[in-house]
Parts: sequence; structure tokens; C-alpha cells
Amino acid sequence: MSISPEPDLAAKEKWGSKIGVVLAVAGSAVGLGNFLRFPGTAVNNGGGAFMIPYIISFVLLGIPIAWCEWTIGRLGGRLGQNNGPGIMFALWRRVPAKGVGTLTLIIPMLVYMYYVLLEALCLRYSIEFFSGGFAETFRAAEQQIAGTSTSEAVVQASSDFAQDTFGMRENGAMFGTSMLWFVLVCFLVNFFIIYRGVSRGIESFCKAAMPLLVGCAIIILIRALTLTEVVDGRDINSGLGFMWNPQWDRLKDPEVWLRAAGQIFFSLSVGFGLILCYSSYLRPDDDVVLSSLSASSTNEFCEVVLGGMIIVPTAFLFLGPGNTPDSTFALGFFTVPAIMYFMPGGSFFGGMWFGLLFLAAVTSSISMLQPAIAFLEDGFGMKRRASVVVLGLLTTFGASLVMYFSVNATSLDFTDFWCEFMMILAALGQVLIFGWVIGARRGIKEANRGADLHIPGFVVVVIRYITPAFLITVLTMWCYFNGPERLKGMSPKLQSAIAAREAYAGAVGEKYPELDARALETRVTEILGVEEGMPESLDALPTWLREVDDQAAEARASAVTNANIARFVFVGVLVVFIVFFVLSDIACRNRIGKSLERADAEGMGLEAQS
Ligand code: ALA
Repeated sequence: MSISPEPDLAAKEKWGSKIGVVLAVAGSAVGLGNFLRFPGTAVNNGGGAFMIPYIISFVLLGIPIAWCEWTIGRLGGRLGQNNGPGIMFALWRRVPAKGVGTLTLIIPMLVYMYYVLLEALCLRYSIEFFSGGFAETFRAAEQQIAGTSTSEAVVQASSDFAQDTFGMRENGAMFGTSMLWFVLVCFLVNFFIIYRGVSRGIESFCKAAMPLLVGCAIIILIRALTLTEVVDGRDINSGLGFMWNPQWDRLKDPEVWLRAAGQIFFSLSVGFGLILCYSSYLRPDDDVVLSSLSASSTNEFCEVVLGGMIIVPTAFLFLGPGNTPDSTFALGFFTVPAIMYFMPGGSFFGGMWFGLLFLAAVTSSISMLQPAIAFLEDGFGMKRRASVVVLGLLTTFGASLVMYFSVNATSLDFTDFWCEFMMILAALGQVLIFGWVIGARRGIKEANRGADLHIPGFVVVVIRYITPAFLITVLTMWCYFNGPERLKGMSPKLQSAIAAREAYAGAVGEKYPELDARALETRVTEILGVEEGMPESLDALPTWLREVDDQAAEARASAVTNANIARFVFVGVLVVFIVFFVLSDIACRNRIGKSLERADAEGMGLEAQS
């Protein structure tokens, strides 16, 4: 296969400057993943020791996949394609290429549907801090409890606020809160930027937003590192120690390695199809090698230096250990407001922190919209206005479903879960197409075209063998560790039994407070008469236990709802994939196919593999 000269693509949009594209890709990468997901994951998976699998994943997954995506994207753009299915089909005219292309199209769109809600929450929180609303709420919470730990009361008030604002206690509750307006504002901001186009919209916004958000993060970092407070013998240095002291034994746990690889994917935005789309707006001789490294390094700086040194050390200082949950949502929206409240100047720094998170989220969320816009334009000849309206309606519908099914954020959690799965598949597909269809040697030659820095030859081996093997291992481990639990999560019957058992176990625990966890489980099994789940009939249960029947029934109902939401998300994601696969197929047979034929006829396309 030969890679031929570029067609005249003067009519297609292009990035305005090199720094612009680097900041746009870095903006896409830098987001909530850096400032919230990373610190929580790192501290709970070995602290400093986590950096070993993390760096290995960065070198063997992050950098090579990013190089593949940048190169494939630029190549696709040269052939007139800015959309995932078109780019992949241009390189390999086979069905699997359309499948990989479809994944790169739907992953960003699906992630957007929940990501925009978190973005809206950041905006809401920023305003709540700047306006002094949080200070008032937390002061009231402190005053209500006399004598017990004030930090616990504030964390509780913060968690209550987040759960109410995000409708986590009742489906549909978010529609009754001001969140609706914040989500609307976020939609308008995102779609306005997208409507303005790649250079005038995305590039201009990222050129202003990226330095601003990094500047704000540096100011907050300085604030955090210069804290002189000592709380119950803890200071900021012990906070840094808590975050970074390596727990070497954690390296034996395969899940730690899996979490490190997952973090690299999410944070660098590799496998999403975002880089693919952005790099397709490059000119044929624009550098991809150094640009890719620059965007990745910017992301790593934001993640490890800024993300890794602010939240967890200050949480340890003000709240003590045990307040750094693994969950991005809990860390970001339960814990952080409490930390900012205790920090001197907290209303200002809290407002600034959530303001920078909002900016970081916008630079990421706009990149999640562009692939679908490009698909509607390239694949169906839509004008910008029409594509923005169609995508606006589609994402409004999806985001409304996530907003509606908000109890325990189940729909968000399950959508994220399936997106992560598809991301690994899409990354694997792209690397295999790069390494084996285009050919790693030829692909790297193409990457080096116009490059300010050349990819060394040994990377051929990495892209052909090591990265795919690593990805297959990650995929297998991912299915092994997550699959059974998630499949069980979709069974209403099983979830109902588990929830009821927990409710009865709670009552047993109250009656026998001296029992430890294992002894309690044995006692529960004796009383219920079954080792797992619940007995068919409750008639044989002691009367004192029947007092929690109502509570158990409530727990059952909520578990059934959650399991149904999980099923609904699975079916929804599957339907989205099928629909977009069919649309991709139609587009590849028609508009995209014709444009590729023209490119072929003019000697611009890719010939059959030699
Ligand atoms: N890479 C983006 C983030 O980290 C999605 O939030």
C-alpha cells in the first residue's frame, strides 16, 4: 500500500496555528480526569508506587496510541475525512474498519451525555463558593453539632448538598433543581463554540482557556503548599507524604495495574476518537510527533503536578485520612467543598478551583462533540447549522436520560463503564490498523513526515507487538475484574435479594453489636437459613427481624430500579452502536465512498496493500 500525495483540500477547515492545535488537544485531554480522577485513583492504589504502572502505561499505551491517532487522523484529513468512520474506512476498506470508526464516533458522544452534567455541577459549585453560599451552609452545619467533629459535619453537609443537587436520592429529582439551568448554560456554551468552527471556535477558546486554567491551578497549588495550619498533628507535608509515600505491596495487585492503564486512557483521551478527529484538521506536513508529545506532556503536568499535589494532601490535612474516596464524584463533590471551606480564603479558592474545573471540562466536552459534527457534515453533507441542531437534539435527549435516572448516579456510572470498555476496543482497533494494515514501518514514516522530532525505529516493534499485547491483557483483565460484578448489577432479582439481605443484616448487626464482620455474616446465614441472597419465604424469620420488612422492601425496590437502569443503559449503548454503525455504513457506501473514489481516481488514495 502506498500513501499518496494530498488532494486539494483548501475548502476544508484547518487549525490556525501549531500552538493552537497542541492546546486544543491538551485541552481535550486535561479535564476532570486530571484534577479529580487521578488523585483519588493514585492515593487508593499504592500512592507513589502507583506511578510505576502509570508510567509504564503512559510509555507503552499512551504515547504510542496517541502517535497512531495523530498520524491516522492527519492521513484521513488529507483524504478529505474528518470523521472517524470515514478516516478508518479510507485506510482499510473493510467492515471492521467501519466498526472501529463507529466506536470513535459514539464514545465521545456518549461520554458527553454525562460529562456535561459534571461540567454543569462545577459551574454551579464555583458560583456557590464565590457567592458565599457554601460558607453559609457549612457554617450552619458546624453550628448544629455541638462537641462532635466539625469536619464530619461539614463533609456530611457537603455530601447532602451534592446528592440533592445531583438528584441522587430520587429519579427525576434533578429536573426540579437549578441544575437544569446550569446544564442548559453548558449546552449553549459548548454548542456555540462548536458552531463557530475548528479554528474560530475550538482553537480560540482553548488558546484562552488553557493558560487561564493552568494559571489558576498554579495559584491554588501555591496556596495549598504554603498552608501553615496544623490540624490534629497533621500539616501539609504529612499530606504530601500521605499522597505519595509508596505502598510497594500494592504492585502485586493486578487491579492496580488495570486502574493505571484506565487512568492513562481516560486522562489522555486516547482511544476516544477525539485526537483522531482533531488531527484530521492538520495540514499534510504539519508536525504530529512533537505536537503529540507536547499535548501529552501538558496533560501529565496538569495531572501529576497540579492534580496530584492539591486535593489529597489538603484533604488529609483538614479532614484526616479516610476522606479521599476512590470515586471521582465523591472526592470532587463531597470532599473538596469541605476542604475549601476549612482553607483560609476558601470561598475565593473554592470558587477558583471549580471555575478552573469548569474550563477544563469545557475544553474536553467540545472535543467530544466535534467527531459527530464532522460525521454529519462529511457523511451526510449537512451544513454546520444543521449538524449542530441535530447533534444538539441527540445529546439533549441522551443527557436528559442520564439526568432523569440519577439515583446513585447509576446511569452515569454504567454509561462510563461501557464507554471505558469501548475505548479499549477502539484503541486496539486503531493500533492494529496502524501496525498491521498500514504497516508500522510505513505508518511511522508517514508520522515522521514534516515532523520536528522523529519517532525512533524501535517503536515499530512497540506498535506492532507490545502495545497490542498490552491492550489485549488490559481488556482481558478488565473483563475478568469488572465483568461478573457488572453483569450481576443488571439482574433485578439478584440485586433485590442482595439489598434485602443487607437490610436484614443491618438489623442483626444492631442486635448483636459485638460481632465482627465475619461472625455477623455467619449469624445472618444462620438466621436467614441461606448462604447467599434471601430465603423464598420470610415466615420463618424471628419477629424482631420482621420489624425491618418495610425497610427491606424499600431497599429491594431501589435495587430493582438500579438494575433496570443498568440494563437500560446496556441496551441503549448497544442500540446507539448499531444505529451509528448502519449510518456509517450508509455514509461509507455513498458520500464518503464517493469522495474516497475521487481521491483514488486522482491518485490520492491508498492503494491495495502490497
Ligand atoms: N480526558 C478528559 C478528562 O480527563 C476526558 O477529563
